[in-house]
Amino acid sequence: TERTLSIIKPDATSRNLTGKINAKFEEAGLRIIAQKRIKLTKAQAGTFYEVHKERPFYDELCDFMASGPVVVQVLEGEGAIAKNREVMGATNPAEAAPGTIRAEFAESVGENSVHGSDAPETAAVEISYFFAGIELVG
Ligand code: GTP
Ligand code: MG
Repeated sequence: TERTLSIIKPDATSRNLTGKINAKFEEAGLRIIAQKRIKLTKAQAGTFYEVHKERPFYDELCDFMASGPVVVQVLEGEGAIAKNREVMGATNPAEAAPGTIRAEFAESVGENSVHGSDAPETAAVEISYFFAGIELVG
């Protein structure tokens, strides 16, 4: 089974949507094997999203991710990376398929409620950014 790093972003925690979003993961067969609520500093958000540092929205993205609590979590299941991205929906909620998290909850392309790793290599790096091995209880 595969593991992926998920983040419930500040726009969603502020609207008390953690449980509704977790229900979507569980309904899709993804298991939440680690989870914690934390508040990132802008520097920590910047390191996490370093791959995007040349993009015009990088500064705005880092400010947003540090603007309130996030819930970081590890999801496990068959094909968890692709399955999670399917449940999340497209980056831009206007383009997200009906029933997906972003279609139902996201506010804009920036404030889009969730993050999910995009490949096995990034999943491994992102999981180890937030969790020690002993915290992953599959
Ligand atoms: P993540 O799971 O968060 O990585 O989303 P993604 O893989 O669907 O999108 P991508 O990696 O391309 O972008 C990372 C994040 O940057 C997005 O989730 C958005 O929060 C933000 N972002 C992407 N494009 C824009 C944009 O045009 N404007 C703003 N403000 N933010 C953007
Ligand atoms: Mg991405």
